[in-house]
Amino acid sequence: MSESILNVKNLQVEFKSGSIITRAVNGVSFALNKNENIGIVGESGSGKSVTATSILRLIPSSSAKITGGEIILNGRDLLKLSNREMRKVRGNEISMIFQDPSTSLNPVFTVGNQLIETIRAHKKLTKKEAKQRAIELLELVGIPAPEKRINMYPHEFSGGMRQRVMIAIALACDPKILIADEPTTALDVTVQAQILNLMKDLQEKLDMSIIMITHDLGVVWEMCDQILVMYAGRVVESAKVEDLYHNPLHPYTWGLLESQITESQDSHAPLASIPGSPPDLSYEIKGCPFVDRCPYAQDICHNEAPKLIEPTEGHAVACHFQTETEKLERRENAYINGDTIRS
Ligand SMILES: Nc1ncnc2c1ncn2[C@@H]1O[C@H](COP(=O)(O)OP(=O)(O)OP(=O)(O)O)[C@@H](O)[C@H]1O
Ligand code: SF4
Ligand SMILES: [Mg+2]
Repeated sequence: MSESILNVKNLQVEFKSGSIITRAVNGVSFALNKNENIGIVGESGSGKSVTATSILRLIPSSSAKITGGEIILNGRDLLKLSNREMRKVRGNEISMIFQDPSTSLNPVFTVGNQLIETIRAHKKLTKKEAKQRAIELLELVGIPAPEKRINMYPHEFSGGMRQRVMIAIALACDPKILIADEPTTALDVTVQAQILNLMKDLQEKLDMSIIMITHDLGVVWEMCDQILVMYAGRVVESAKVEDLYHNPLHPYTWGLLESQITESQDSHAPLASIPGSPPDLSYEIKGCPFVDRCPYAQDICHNEAPKLIEPTEGHAVACHFQTETEKLERRENAYINGDTIRS
């Protein structure tokens, strides 16, 4: 059986603005196994980044609060650690590549400076040793002529190269867990593929586990072992990637799958999209959060929240009609919006 190294249990995160409380993450649970990758997918605003930043306790302390749950790493609950202990966890045990790489590198310092500073903040190395390590890291992430490049500024690198530098910084202290929040969205398709291949290689070489946040299911099929589908701050489906690929269960997942453009798709075929938009998380949601957009909704869905259950081992779903005894019949093209034709 796989050994889990990170266990997130019933995580709850709220944002407060005046009297308005937004429940951004509402009872998220998952386990990350050693040497495995987990993909988190879901529409914009579904709580992917807040879940990730909460693991590192990097949510804005002035407006956000983790109101419940546990985050267990090597037997310790990260939510109970002091700020000092938490600083040691960041970088050393868990590292993160943030959603917007352009804000993560400081334009006034050389790439080498930023790498060396990170290395020395976590490891007792001389400047010379840290510089050597920085060169090795740049080489590891495929930056050519690292001895020269180490003295260059971020603006002298291409977008893809900057992303490689971000990965090098994240790997500076050999973390066992890397959280990558949309690591390739700002890059063109060819560079995206290079960065994803690089991450895959590094994961195998460095014995890491990756939490990969993405809008792109293709990335999950390619890179991940487990998948978590989030909607309105909740997990609506989770499974091993091959189980979900062959047998997706939640109507929201079906909508996501239909909205992906596949290579084999006829370029004039209508593009599916899930109608409507996710619910406002500052209001209490009584029934199923997907009810207003779900082509399969029935009366009970408006009044009762479906629980996350496991109709088959390791495959969880939160839908009233996907239980051990009931099974929804997936309708073909349920999300096709006839007006949307791809050009
Ligand atoms: N700084 C903030 N202040 C107030 N609310 C916030 C803040 N950041 C996030 N939220 C709330 O938390 C919810 C989840 O946001 P999150 O950034 O996790 O979404 P996401 O799934 O990462 O979306 P995206 O795909 O666009 O990155 C948002 O819908 C928003 O309501
Ligand atoms: S519980 Fe009802 S509304 Fe929610 S996904 Fe299932 S069928 Fe759709
Ligand atoms: Mg995000």
